[in-house]
Amino acid sequence: MGKYYITTPIYYPSGKLHIGNAYTTVAADTVARFKRIMGDDVFFLTGTDEHGLKIQQKAQEAGKPPKQYVDEIVEGIVKLWDVLNISYDKFIRTTDQYHVDAVSDIIERLRQNGDIYKDEYEGWYCTPCETFWTKTQLGEKTVCPDCGRAVQQAKEESYFFKMSKYQDRLIEHIESNPEFIQPASRRNEMLSFIKSGLEDLCISRTTFDWGIKVPFDKKHVVYVWLDALTNYITALGYPENTELFKTYWPANVHLVGKDIVRFHTVIWPSILMALNIELPKQVFAHGWLLLDGGKMSKSRGNVVDPIVLAGKYGADAVRYYVLREVAFGSDGNFSNELMINRINSDLANDLGNLVSRTVAMVEKYFASNVVGGGEDTEVDISLKELALETGEKSSDEINKLMLSNALESIWKFVSRTNKYIDETTPWILAKDDAQKPRLQQVMYNLCESIRLISAYIQPFMPHTAAEIHKQINNDSVDRCWSNNGEFTVKKGNVLFPRIDLEKELSELENITV
Ligand code: MSP
Repeated sequence: MGKYYITTPIYYPSGKLHIGNAYTTVAADTVARFKRIMGDDVFFLTGTDEHGLKIQQKAQEAGKPPKQYVDEIVEGIVKLWDVLNISYDKFIRTTDQYHVDAVSDIIERLRQNGDIYKDEYEGWYCTPCETFWTKTQLGEKTVCPDCGRAVQQAKEESYFFKMSKYQDRLIEHIESNPEFIQPASRRNEMLSFIKSGLEDLCISRTTFDWGIKVPFDKKHVVYVWLDALTNYITALGYPENTELFKTYWPANVHLVGKDIVRFHTVIWPSILMALNIELPKQVFAHGWLLLDGGKMSKSRGNVVDPIVLAGKYGADAVRYYVLREVAFGSDGNFSNELMINRINSDLANDLGNLVSRTVAMVEKYFASNVVGGGEDTEVDISLKELALETGEKSSDEINKLMLSNALESIWKFVSRTNKYIDETTPWILAKDDAQKPRLQQVMYNLCESIRLISAYIQPFMPHTAAEIHKQINNDSVDRCWSNNGEFTVKKGNVLFPRIDLEKELSELENITV
């Protein structure tokens, strides 16, 4: 049994999370569930990034102390993960005392190693991104190169981390470990960024106080990205050499959005090198869900509120849609119309009908019970072959984090199974008593295919898989085809009721918080 440590970014509790934020977590959850099914010892971490100027300002606007402000939002985030069935093993908050203590310890260690010095910072700061920029990086403009919003001039006495010192080692690591940054396009981008020259990193601020105090100079608070990135080890108990840390570090993968790759592949590995800690095995950057082709933002209406969507269509439909629609790694469009169309075609029609037709036929023709062991014809053999091939192919794709491809492969098998019904025409076989054994074999093969489909979709859609298991009274996730099993079916809830597109679209348009 291998160990597998997977993380999501820790989210800013600066407002309610939208479907784009939920995307990373749903993807990580799917991979974590898959690895657990495959027998790995999994640790899945998520949490919230609660310090920094942006949060302090938001709390001020809301007229609340920062801790009270984040407590309320974090409660909503925990509820969202609950609604979306997220199976995290630990939820870290950067305001947790153990994290605060560990960050102080880390800063102290960096100083003792001679990697921290005091100087004056003069440059620009983007508060929404919590990022420092130099004049050279900005060029003529005074907007953030990442998000395009206005940056503020900052001049203050600060502590710096000697990041430049790690430039060569970092280049060498990225070049000799092609898996470290994925997809490859991101690796090339980061390599050329690092090769253009790394500057030392400003790691403290004095102009606000919502953060972790620098232990040897309490006027300063620790730069929020340094505080946040270390969560991946403090959650395991670092700096203590805990069982958790020994077992799970280095992480197998940090799953992140493309906008925060630089922090994870430049700042984070430099800090780890300075602390003499192994680097994570991989940072995988996914693309963005775009809303009508543009950036998704919390202010553009709550139709992208995943709680609303999951409440209306079910968590599994939302999970399926975001992972199926967009190739993992690229950008893709989110729209209510696309989502409803997909739910209707892939889930209600293809999968839902397959299960309900099969269960209804087994009830009708065999008083709910079929056994295997009959003779297979050519069409049966080709169905079985695709069933097994789909298991291998989709596993391989999940292992490579090609999640949309994995769903596509599984749905090819769903379609093939529907086609099998058309090819074998059970309703005609049922008219002839002499065909009873053949009809039973067909029904058995259908049940076994459905059992495998539910095993394959389980990491993506845990609730639907469980519902299918109930209807065929078999919850085995074994990926082999069993020739001699038995199924006793029982009609259950409609898996995915068909959605009236026009009606729902106008309802979604009219929802206001
Ligand atoms: N707090 C930092 C992360 C620190 S990790 C040590 C942060 N938080 S965030 O809440 O702004 O973003 C969290 C994640 O959501 C990022 O991976 C970001 O890429 C992702 N997304 C934000 N909008 C998104 C979309 N529209 N689509 C897909 N992912 C998006 O950054």
